[in-house]
Amino acid sequence: MKRVDDFRLRFGKNEYVPIMVGGMGVDISTSELALEAARLGGIGHISDAMVEDVSDRRFDTSFVKEKTKLYKFNINNMDKAVVQFDLGRLAEAQRLHVGKTMEAKKGPGLIFVNCMEKLTMNGPRETLRVRLNAALDAGVDGITLSAGLHFGSFALMADHPRFRDAKLGIIVSSVRALQIFLRKNAKLDRLPDYIIVEGPLAGGHLGFGMDWAEYDLHTITAEILAYLKTEQLDIPLIAAGGIFTGSDAVSFLEAGCAGVQVATRFTIAKECGLPDKVKQEYIKATEDDIIVNGISPTGYPMRMLKSTPAIGSGIRPGCESYGYLLDATGNCAYINAYNREVSAHPDEKNIVVMDKTCLCTHMRNFNCWTCGHYTYRLKDTTHKMPNGEYQLLSAEHVFKDYQFSVNNEIALPEKEF
Ligand SMILES: Cc1cc2nc3c(=O)[nH]c(=O)nc-3n(C[C@H](O)[C@H](O)[C@H](O)COP(=O)(O)O)c2cc1C
Repeated sequence: MKRVDDFRLRFGKNEYVPIMVGGMGVDISTSELALEAARLGGIGHISDAMVEDVSDRRFDTSFVKEKTKLYKFNINNMDKAVVQFDLGRLAEAQRLHVGKTMEAKKGPGLIFVNCMEKLTMNGPRETLRVRLNAALDAGVDGITLSAGLHFGSFALMADHPRFRDAKLGIIVSSVRALQIFLRKNAKLDRLPDYIIVEGPLAGGHLGFGMDWAEYDLHTITAEILAYLKTEQLDIPLIAAGGIFTGSDAVSFLEAGCAGVQVATRFTIAKECGLPDKVKQEYIKATEDDIIVNGISPTGYPMRMLKSTPAIGSGIRPGCESYGYLLDATGNCAYINAYNREVSAHPDEKNIVVMDKTCLCTHMRNFNCWTCGHYTYRLKDTTHKMPNGEYQLLSAEHVFKDYQFSVNNEIALPEKEF
């Protein structure tokens, strides 16, 4: 009976344990979590979502405070076009976040950064260009392009000296999205080094509509593998979304995938950035507590716990401080929804907005509890303590369980109580 450790993910001559820990913004997949994956010979992701805020929390910078001060005059104005990111500061924050992580890297694995295109930041092209190039400047091993089609993203890095040696990958949810990506980038003569195919059971935003339940990761993976074979493209394919045990992972590796990307099991690791009380909410969740809804202003469906504080919250848009979801014209679907409710209830102090959420503020405060479909199985991966809470795990324990387990078994940690 095979286990994940019988396989290796190959980039050129180098081999890795074929486990990637997925990027989870905002600072849910922390540097500490990514560094553990790299130390153990796999691939860890940090995320550059809201990187200025992450930098402030970790490195004592004051990017957010200064931006808020600069645009304070605009707080009551619902036109946010003026609230621009300073590109120099954005680059500085990205270099700090990525650079400090790379400095701390030990062991044979790799550190990648997850860059979401849907973080349009009131200037989609220029802010993405800065994020990508600053991550390369800071020595990141690779960049995973996510949450978007990324037709122009390779071109934004094409002049960087590391464009051809850093590992660059793309997340897709269909063979069609991959075909278009490859077509749009053909003139750069630079294929992706890996492709992550993310199915409908993943956490975060989904690359599917509300009919997500009609899709299946094994089927999409098989379609993409067949397409790559027909086109004679030798690009490692990484399967993601709902891979909960080592045996699940082996089923994809045996089918021809080069690796798996996993996240949900790591959300209750001590190294994960979620506050401990939120981790307990994840562990306690039942299947009925997990929903896919349309409250993200990005327009993509998102999976989350029903009890997430972000649902129904009608806080004032925080764009002067954050503004990561403002589109090219300074708009965000939450601003419209918020304005509609304020006009409908002019005397109401506590505004309720059900259809959209202020994702920047809530993700930043860990109040949008996005999660994978199998979050309800987390309680089977650890011990319940006498006080009713669950024991948190080490990232190493979860990683090694994926790497060495067989028979769909899940190894429980040594009791700490
Ligand atoms: C809490 C959480 C946050 C996530 N945030 C992001 C994100 O910011 N960007 C992204 O591309 N994927 C995100 N994902 C998706 C993961 O990187 C990963 O591909 C997927 O969840 C793997 O499936 P699994 O969670 O069932 O193992 C997130 C997943 C979780 C559980």
